[in-house]
Amino acid sequence: MSIPVLTAVAWPYANGPRHIGHVSGIGVPSDVFSRYMRMAGNRVLMVSGSDEHGTPILVQADKEGLTPQQTADKYHRVISEDLRGLGVTYDLYTRTTTGNHYEVVQQIFLALHRNGYVQARKTTGAVSPSTGRTLPDRYIEGTCPICGYDGARGDQCDNCGNQLDAADLRNPRSRINGETPKFVETEHLFLDLPAFTRTLGEWLSTKTDWRPNVLNFTRNLVEDMRPRPITRDLDWGVPIPLDGWRDQPLKRFYVWFDAVIGYFSASVEWARRSGDPDAWQQWWNDPDAQVVHFMGKDNITFHAQIWPALLLGHNGAGDLGGKPGPYGTLNLPTEIASSEFLTMSGSKFSTSRGTVIYLNDFLREFGPDTLRYFISAAGPETQDVDFTWEEFVRRINFELANEWGNLVNRSVSMAHKNVGAVPAPVAPTEADEELKKLARDAFTTVGQHLSRSRFRAGISEAMRVVSAANKYISDQEPWKRKDDPERRDTILHTALQVVQDANTLLTPFLPHSAQKVHEQLGATGVWASQPELREVDDLDIAGKVNPILTGDYTAEQAKWESTPIEVGRPLAKPTPLFAKLDPELGETGPEWAPVVRS
Ligand code: MF3
Ligand code: ZN
Repeated sequence: MSIPVLTAVAWPYANGPRHIGHVSGIGVPSDVFSRYMRMAGNRVLMVSGSDEHGTPILVQADKEGLTPQQTADKYHRVISEDLRGLGVTYDLYTRTTTGNHYEVVQQIFLALHRNGYVQARKTTGAVSPSTGRTLPDRYIEGTCPICGYDGARGDQCDNCGNQLDAADLRNPRSRINGETPKFVETEHLFLDLPAFTRTLGEWLSTKTDWRPNVLNFTRNLVEDMRPRPITRDLDWGVPIPLDGWRDQPLKRFYVWFDAVIGYFSASVEWARRSGDPDAWQQWWNDPDAQVVHFMGKDNITFHAQIWPALLLGHNGAGDLGGKPGPYGTLNLPTEIASSEFLTMSGSKFSTSRGTVIYLNDFLREFGPDTLRYFISAAGPETQDVDFTWEEFVRRINFELANEWGNLVNRSVSMAHKNVGAVPAPVAPTEADEELKKLARDAFTTVGQHLSRSRFRAGISEAMRVVSAANKYISDQEPWKRKDDPERRDTILHTALQVVQDANTLLTPFLPHSAQKVHEQLGATGVWASQPELREVDDLDIAGKVNPILTGDYTAEQAKWESTPIEVGRPLAKPTPLFAKLDPELGETGPEWAPVVRS
C-alpha cells in the first residue's frame, strides 16, 4: 500500500560546517528511512533546510565580521555541500531566508492570532550594555537561585534541571563577553500554551509507540505549561505582520517559531517548484499521511510540544476554538524519531569544545558509506555513543570489508573466472533453497525495523544474511567443484542471487556502494539515486539566488523486494568495494583529527 510519508529533518543552524555528531542523529537516519520508504513504494517528501535566524547566527557573524545574511549564505552553502556528499536524498533542502518561508510563517502566525492564541505582554529582557542588543536567556550565565550552582544558564540550570528566568539569576553575566546585562521592560507576543494543555495531552496520550527515550521526555510535557514568548528584541528574523509591530526594527519572531514552521514552508516551496503548487496537501491535509521527524534529543520539546501547539492553534483546535487557517487542517507529527548524542571521549560532540571531526574531511578520506555504515550499526539511536577511531576501524575492516565487501568480491570473481556471466542453476539443494529463503524473508524483518526507525536492528538483520552467505560459500566450496560444473554453477548462482538481495537490503544504508554492486552484478542504469546541488532563483525575492539540494528519485531501480537475478548477464572482474583501513588509524586518528593522548 502506498502512503504519503513526510520525512521532516531538523534544520541545522547556518553557523558552521557539519561535524559527524550532527549527521549521526539526524542526516544518516533520516536518509536511511526515506530511501527505504521510497523503495517500499511510498510517496516520500523529504524536506529540511538551513536555520538562518537567531542568536547562533548573530554570534557567528560577529566572530567573523560578517553580516548575518553573509554568514548564513556562507554556511548554508557549506552545509548543503556536506549533506550532498553524504548522499542525503532531500526533495528540498532550502533555507529560512526565502521569501516563501517569510510568507508562510506570517500566514501561520496570523491564523494563530485570529484564533486568539497569541497575546501581547510586558516582560523584562536582558540587554547587553555595550552593544545595545538583547541577550537571549541561554547566553546569560550566573548562580542558580534554587541550588546555588554557579554555571546556571538564563534558561535553565544544568545542575538541578530547573527552568529559570534570566532575571532571577544571582550575579548574572553575558556568556559572550562577560559583562553584566541590563534588565529592561519590553513587550512581546506570547503563545497561549495553556490553551493547548488538554488537546496536546490527548494527542500525546495516543503516542504509545514512540521510542522510550522520547516517551520519557514527553511524559510530563503538558504539566504546568505557561505562555511562551514567540518574539524577540532582535533585528534579524521574520518580521511580525501586525500593526504596531510590523515596522519596529527591533521586533522579530523568535528563531524557533519560524524554524519549526520550516517543515511546512519547505513543503509548500517544493510544491511551487514542482509545477503543482497544491501538491503539499498530500502530506499535510491527508490524515493517512505519516509525518516523521528526525532530530537530536535537545530538540524534543520544540517538536513534541511547541510545533504541535502551533499546528493545533492554526487548525483552531485548542481550548479557545477557532477556524482552520489558510492551509486547512494540518497534520500533527506521527513520529518523533529523536536520537541521542555522539560523543567523543565522554564529552558532547560539539564545535565549542574543540573535539571536532568535520564531515567534509571525513568524506574526503573515507567516503560516505563507511560513515553511513558506522552510524547505522553503532550510532546513538537510543543512547549516547562515544565515537572512537578504534571502533570505526574495527567495524569497517571486520564487518564492512571482510563480510560484505568480501562476499561480493568472491562471488562475482568466481563467476567471472569460471563462467564469465551469471551462471544458470541446475538442481538446487536444500542448502541453496534455505539460503535464498533467508534472504527473501529478510525483506519483511528488515523492512519492519526500518519503517519504525530501528536502524541498528535493521542493519544487523541485513548483515545476518551476508554472514549466512559467507558461511554457505565456505561450506559449499565451489572452488573444489572442477569435476562437477553443474553443481559449481548452481552454488555460484545461489551466491549471486543472495548478493543481489543483500545489496537491496543494504541499499538504504549504503546507497553509493549499492550502485557499484549493481554494476558488478552486470546490471546498468541508476540503482540508487543521489541528490544534487542546484542554484535557483528565490521564488519571491528578485535577485536572491538560493543553493538547494534536490533530486529526481523516481527513476531509481531499487525496489524493496527480492528479484530473480538474470542468468547470462556478463560479469567483469570486480574491484574491491571497501579499502581496508590501516589498524594504526585506530590509535592515532587521521592527521586532521588526531587522537589526543592524555
Ligand atoms: N537549528 C536547531 C538546532 O540546531 C534545530 C531547528 S529544527 C527546526 O538545534 F525544525 F525547528 F528547524
Ligand atoms: Zn540549579
